[in-house]
Amino acid sequence: MIILVGSQKGGCGKSTIAVNVACALALDGKADVLLVDSDPQASVARWVQDRQGHPELKNIPCVQVSGDVRVTLRDLAERYQYLVVDVAGRDSVELRSGLSAADILLSPIRPSQYDLDTVPHLAEVYSKAKDFNQKLKAYLVLNLCPTNPVVREAEEAQAYLKDFSEFDVAQTRIYDRKAYRDSVAEGQSAIEWKDKKAADSIRLLVKEVVKND
Ligand SMILES: Nc1ncnc2c1ncn2[C@@H]1O[C@H](COP(=O)(O)OP(=O)(O)OP(=O)(O)O)[C@@H](O)[C@H]1O
Ligand SMILES: [Mg+2]
Repeated sequence: MIILVGSQKGGCGKSTIAVNVACALALDGKADVLLVDSDPQASVARWVQDRQGHPELKNIPCVQVSGDVRVTLRDLAERYQYLVVDVAGRDSVELRSGLSAADILLSPIRPSQYDLDTVPHLAEVYSKAKDFNQKLKAYLVLNLCPTNPVVREAEEAQAYLKDFSEFDVAQTRIYDRKAYRDSVAEGQSAIEWKDKKAADSIRLLVKEVVKND
């Protein structure tokens, strides 16, 4: 199964979600998980290197790819149960070719107007991919949601996103928590960081969008 974490918006949490989802899958049972980094920034590849500095942690293999990744992803998907693919925060060949092979698009989105403004373009890119890849399913994941319950931005964003019928908005929201920043900086996931709330959200997200069948 190919899970592509992508959007054309920078800084919405793609790499953070990619490594956390990959870790959740790898730590839960014996799933063979491969991280695929298709962003020249190489955040995920660097995370894997940092992780390898902690031999007690389960190693998650990673490959870096660029350009038209369709055939490479299909080939790798024969050998791994899950590929988790990180892409750059812009419209790119990697995003479009990756979508032509993927099973699931996870698109993190911050509940802010600037992020919401990018959804129509993403919807276009997704629809084009879907013409050739009918199995593709897409979830928007509200990320960096305010933890203060008085701030209703996530609810407002969710209401706005209802108009995009091509996307499901994941029920699981990812909140703005220091644990995500701190764990990723150490080559770890929220699950290993022992922040229960941060870890539970990742587990719930995986259950909702990946293991829902
Ligand atoms: N839920 C969260 N809570 C707290 N911090 C977060 C969360 N998600 C992401 N961050 C932080 O926000 C910043 C951007 O996240 P990240 O690098 O994952 O985004 P990205 O979409 O991959 O960015 P780019 O488009 O540059 O690849 C990082 O500093 C990351 O640690
Ligand atoms: Mg990134």
